[in-house]
Amino acid sequence: MFMRMFRQNEILQGDEVKNFPFRGGVMPITRAKTRRLAKIYENCFREEPWCEVFASGEAVTWLREMICYPGNISLGWRVYLGKIVGAIFAFPLVFKEDVAKFLPQEIDASKVIYIADIFVKKSYRKQGIASALQKQCLDIAKEKGFTHALARTNLESKMRPILAENEYALIQTQEVISNKQVNGKIVPLADVRGIFLRTL
Ligand SMILES: CC(C)(COP(=O)(O)OP(=O)(O)OC[C@H]1O[C@@H](n2cnc3c(N)ncnc32)[C@H](O)[C@@H]1OP(=O)(O)O)[C@@H](O)C(=O)NCCC(=O)NCCS
Repeated sequence: MFMRMFRQNEILQGDEVKNFPFRGGVMPITRAKTRRLAKIYENCFREEPWCEVFASGEAVTWLREMICYPGNISLGWRVYLGKIVGAIFAFPLVFKEDVAKFLPQEIDASKVIYIADIFVKKSYRKQGIASALQKQCLDIAKEKGFTHALARTNLESKMRPILAENEYALIQTQEVISNKQVNGKIVPLADVRGIFLRTL
Protein backbone atom coordinates (compact mmCIF):
# COMPACT_ATOMS: atom_id res chain seq x y z
CA MET A 1 0.00 0.00 0.00
CA PHE A 2 2.81 2.40 0.96
CA MET A 3 4.62 1.59 -2.27
CA ARG A 4 1.52 2.47 -4.34
CA MET A 5 1.16 5.86 -2.66
CA PHE A 6 4.82 6.63 -3.10
CA ARG A 7 4.76 5.82 -6.78
CA GLN A 8 1.63 7.86 -7.30
CA ASN A 9 3.21 10.93 -5.70
CA GLU A 10 6.32 10.39 -7.72
CA ILE A 11 4.64 10.67 -11.11
CA LEU A 12 1.82 13.16 -10.57
CA GLN A 13 2.71 16.82 -11.03
CA GLY A 14 0.43 19.64 -10.00
CA ASP A 15 -3.32 19.87 -9.56
CA GLU A 16 -4.05 19.71 -13.24
CA VAL A 17 -2.47 16.30 -13.61
CA LYS A 18 -4.06 15.07 -10.34
CA ASN A 19 -7.49 16.02 -11.67
CA PHE A 20 -6.79 14.45 -15.01
CA PRO A 21 -9.27 11.70 -15.91
CA PHE A 22 -6.54 9.30 -16.94
CA ARG A 23 -4.17 9.22 -14.00
CA GLY A 24 -0.52 9.51 -14.80
CA GLY A 25 2.12 12.13 -15.24
CA VAL A 26 5.09 13.41 -17.14
CA MET A 27 8.62 12.19 -16.75
CA PRO A 28 11.85 13.18 -18.47
CA ILE A 29 13.01 10.85 -21.23
CA THR A 30 16.28 9.10 -20.57
CA ARG A 31 18.28 7.07 -23.09
CA ALA A 32 17.07 3.89 -21.36
CA LYS A 33 13.45 4.77 -22.19
CA THR A 34 14.05 5.38 -25.88
CA ARG A 35 13.96 1.70 -26.91
CA ARG A 36 10.38 1.21 -25.69
CA LEU A 37 9.35 4.60 -27.05
CA ALA A 38 10.85 3.81 -30.45
CA LYS A 39 8.41 0.89 -30.84
CA ILE A 40 5.47 3.16 -30.04
CA TYR A 41 6.89 5.82 -32.38
CA GLU A 42 7.18 3.36 -35.28
CA ASN A 43 3.62 2.11 -34.79
CA CYS A 44 2.26 5.67 -34.60
CA PHE A 45 4.01 6.88 -37.75
CA ARG A 46 3.18 3.74 -39.74
CA GLU A 47 -0.43 4.97 -39.51
CA GLU A 48 -2.08 7.26 -42.02
CA PRO A 49 -1.43 9.94 -43.06
CA TRP A 50 2.27 9.24 -42.37
CA CYS A 51 2.63 5.62 -43.64
CA GLU A 52 6.34 5.92 -42.83
CA VAL A 53 8.89 3.25 -43.61
CA PHE A 54 11.53 2.56 -40.94
CA ALA A 55 14.93 0.98 -41.35
CA SER A 56 16.08 -1.19 -38.45
CA GLY A 57 17.22 1.01 -35.54
CA GLU A 58 16.28 4.24 -37.31
CA ALA A 59 13.61 5.34 -34.83
CA VAL A 60 15.65 4.71 -31.69
CA THR A 61 18.63 6.54 -33.23
CA TRP A 62 16.42 9.55 -34.01
CA LEU A 63 14.92 9.66 -30.49
CA ARG A 64 18.42 9.42 -28.98
CA GLU A 65 19.66 12.20 -31.26
CA MET A 66 16.86 14.49 -30.10
CA ILE A 67 17.62 14.01 -26.39
CA CYS A 68 21.23 15.07 -27.07
CA TYR A 69 20.43 18.51 -28.51
CA PRO A 70 21.37 21.20 -25.98
CA GLY A 71 18.17 22.76 -24.58
CA ASN A 72 15.93 19.87 -25.63
CA ILE A 73 12.67 19.27 -23.76
CA SER A 74 11.81 15.59 -23.99
CA LEU A 75 8.95 14.31 -21.86
CA GLY A 76 7.15 11.01 -21.63
CA TRP A 77 3.68 10.27 -20.29
CA ARG A 78 3.68 7.42 -17.81
CA VAL A 79 0.35 5.94 -16.83
CA TYR A 80 -0.38 5.45 -13.15
CA LEU A 81 1.63 2.44 -11.95
CA GLY A 82 2.40 1.62 -15.55
CA LYS A 83 4.66 2.28 -18.50
CA ILE A 84 5.34 5.19 -20.80
CA VAL A 85 2.61 5.40 -23.46
CA GLY A 86 3.51 8.59 -25.29
CA ALA A 87 6.04 11.37 -25.55
CA ILE A 88 6.93 14.80 -26.83
CA PHE A 89 10.36 15.71 -28.16
CA ALA A 90 11.23 19.39 -28.61
CA PHE A 91 14.50 21.23 -29.15
CA PRO A 92 15.70 24.70 -30.19
CA LEU A 93 14.71 25.48 -33.79
CA VAL A 94 18.30 26.43 -34.65
CA PHE A 95 19.04 22.68 -34.93
CA LYS A 96 16.39 22.21 -37.63
CA GLU A 97 17.54 24.40 -40.52
CA ASP A 98 15.06 23.07 -43.10
CA VAL A 99 12.19 24.28 -40.88
CA ALA A 100 13.91 27.38 -39.42
CA LYS A 101 13.89 28.94 -42.90
CA PHE A 102 10.09 29.38 -42.57
CA LEU A 103 10.40 31.56 -39.47
CA PRO A 104 9.45 35.24 -39.95
CA GLN A 105 12.70 37.25 -40.03
CA GLU A 106 11.83 39.38 -37.01
CA ILE A 107 11.78 36.31 -34.70
CA ASP A 108 15.07 35.10 -33.22
CA ALA A 109 15.38 31.36 -34.06
CA SER A 110 17.42 30.72 -30.91
CA LYS A 111 14.33 31.68 -28.87
CA VAL A 112 12.00 29.28 -30.67
CA ILE A 113 11.31 25.77 -29.40
CA TYR A 114 10.61 23.29 -32.19
CA ILE A 115 8.07 20.56 -31.43
CA ALA A 116 9.75 17.81 -33.40
CA ASP A 117 7.63 14.81 -32.46
CA ILE A 118 4.62 13.99 -30.37
CA PHE A 119 2.92 10.60 -30.29
CA VAL A 120 0.65 8.51 -28.08
CA LYS A 121 0.08 4.75 -28.23
CA LYS A 122 -3.20 4.10 -30.04
CA SER A 123 -5.02 2.46 -27.11
CA TYR A 124 -4.36 5.51 -24.88
CA ARG A 125 -5.55 8.24 -27.22
CA LYS A 126 -8.42 10.70 -26.84
CA GLN A 127 -7.82 11.13 -23.13
CA GLY A 128 -5.87 14.37 -23.35
CA ILE A 129 -2.38 12.88 -23.05
CA ALA A 130 -0.93 14.68 -26.11
CA SER A 131 -2.51 17.95 -25.02
CA ALA A 132 -1.07 17.58 -21.52
CA LEU A 133 2.39 16.73 -22.86
CA GLN A 134 2.23 19.72 -25.20
CA LYS A 135 1.15 22.07 -22.43
CA GLN A 136 3.84 20.87 -20.03
CA CYS A 137 6.48 21.22 -22.74
CA LEU A 138 5.46 24.80 -23.54
CA ASP A 139 5.39 25.74 -19.83
CA ILE A 140 8.96 24.49 -19.46
CA ALA A 141 10.01 26.23 -22.68
CA LYS A 142 8.61 29.53 -21.44
CA GLU A 143 10.43 29.12 -18.13
CA LYS A 144 13.66 28.52 -20.06
CA GLY A 145 13.23 31.81 -21.95
CA PHE A 146 11.84 30.64 -25.29
CA THR A 147 9.46 33.19 -26.81
CA HIS A 148 7.76 31.05 -29.49
CA ALA A 149 6.92 27.45 -30.30
CA LEU A 150 6.93 26.07 -33.82
CA ALA A 151 5.56 22.75 -35.09
CA ARG A 152 5.41 21.16 -38.52
CA THR A 153 2.81 18.55 -39.22
CA ASN A 154 0.88 16.90 -42.02
CA LEU A 155 -2.32 18.87 -42.57
CA GLU A 156 -4.25 15.59 -42.24
CA SER A 157 -2.62 14.74 -38.89
CA LYS A 158 -4.67 14.27 -35.71
CA MET A 159 -2.32 16.84 -34.22
CA ARG A 160 -3.72 19.67 -36.31
CA PRO A 161 -6.87 20.30 -34.19
CA ILE A 162 -4.77 20.14 -31.03
CA LEU A 163 -2.48 22.85 -32.42
CA ALA A 164 -5.49 24.95 -33.40
CA GLU A 165 -6.92 24.63 -29.87
CA ASN A 166 -3.57 25.73 -28.45
CA GLU A 167 -3.27 29.06 -30.23
CA TYR A 168 -0.93 27.98 -32.99
CA ALA A 169 -1.37 29.80 -36.31
CA LEU A 170 -0.63 28.23 -39.67
CA ILE A 171 2.12 30.40 -41.19
CA GLN A 172 3.22 28.34 -44.21
CA THR A 173 2.53 25.16 -46.11
CA GLN A 174 5.08 22.93 -47.73
CA GLU A 175 4.70 20.03 -50.16
CA VAL A 176 6.89 17.11 -49.18
CA ILE A 177 7.54 13.92 -51.13
CA SER A 178 8.46 10.92 -49.04
CA ASN A 179 8.53 7.15 -49.34
CA LYS A 180 5.37 5.63 -47.92
CA GLN A 181 4.24 2.07 -47.37
CA VAL A 182 0.91 1.63 -49.10
CA ASN A 183 -0.71 -1.83 -49.49
CA GLY A 184 2.65 -3.45 -48.74
CA LYS A 185 4.48 -1.43 -51.41
CA ILE A 186 6.90 1.45 -50.89
CA VAL A 187 5.99 4.37 -53.13
CA PRO A 188 7.03 8.04 -53.25
CA LEU A 189 3.98 10.17 -52.40
CA ALA A 190 3.42 13.87 -51.85
CA ASP A 191 1.64 15.38 -48.91
CA VAL A 192 1.22 18.86 -47.49
CA ARG A 193 2.84 19.86 -44.23
CA GLY A 194 1.82 22.96 -42.31
CA ILE A 195 4.22 25.13 -40.31
CA PHE A 196 2.46 26.31 -37.13
CA LEU A 197 3.71 29.07 -34.83
CA ARG A 198 2.58 30.46 -31.49
CA THR A 199 3.93 32.89 -28.94
CA LEU A 200 4.68 31.72 -25.41
C1 LIG B 1 -1.79 13.17 -32.58
C2 LIG B 1 -1.78 12.35 -31.29
C3 LIG B 1 -0.41 12.54 -30.61
C4 LIG B 1 -2.90 12.83 -30.35
O1 LIG B 1 -2.81 12.12 -29.12
P1 LIG B 1 -4.01 12.08 -28.04
O2 LIG B 1 -3.41 11.77 -26.73
O3 LIG B 1 -5.10 11.24 -28.56
O4 LIG B 1 -4.48 13.62 -28.07
P2 LIG B 1 -5.55 14.28 -27.08
O5 LIG B 1 -6.24 13.22 -26.32
O6 LIG B 1 -4.88 15.37 -26.34
O7 LIG B 1 -6.56 14.95 -28.12
C5 LIG B 1 -7.15 14.18 -29.14
C6 LIG B 1 -8.65 14.41 -29.17
O8 LIG B 1 -9.26 13.77 -28.06
C7 LIG B 1 -10.12 14.70 -27.41
N1 LIG B 1 -10.15 14.34 -25.98
C8 LIG B 1 -9.25 14.67 -25.03
N2 LIG B 1 -9.64 14.17 -23.84
C9 LIG B 1 -10.78 13.49 -24.06
C10 LIG B 1 -11.66 12.76 -23.23
N3 LIG B 1 -11.42 12.61 -21.92
N4 LIG B 1 -12.74 12.20 -23.81
C11 LIG B 1 -12.98 12.33 -25.13
N5 LIG B 1 -12.19 13.03 -25.97
C12 LIG B 1 -11.10 13.58 -25.44
C13 LIG B 1 -9.47 16.04 -27.68
O9 LIG B 1 -10.39 17.10 -27.52
C14 LIG B 1 -9.03 15.87 -29.10
O10 LIG B 1 -10.15 16.05 -29.95
P3 LIG B 1 -9.97 16.72 -31.40
O11 LIG B 1 -9.22 15.74 -32.25
O12 LIG B 1 -11.37 16.91 -31.86
O13 LIG B 1 -9.23 18.00 -31.18
C15 LIG B 1 -2.02 10.85 -31.61
O14 LIG B 1 -3.19 10.71 -32.37
C16 LIG B 1 -0.88 10.19 -32.36
O15 LIG B 1 0.09 9.72 -31.76
N6 LIG B 1 -0.98 10.13 -33.72
C17 LIG B 1 0.06 9.51 -34.55
C18 LIG B 1 1.33 10.34 -34.55
C19 LIG B 1 1.07 11.79 -34.96
O16 LIG B 1 0.34 12.07 -35.91
N7 LIG B 1 1.72 12.72 -34.24
C20 LIG B 1 1.66 14.11 -34.53
C21 LIG B 1 2.80 14.44 -35.45
S1 LIG B 1 3.14 16.15 -35.43
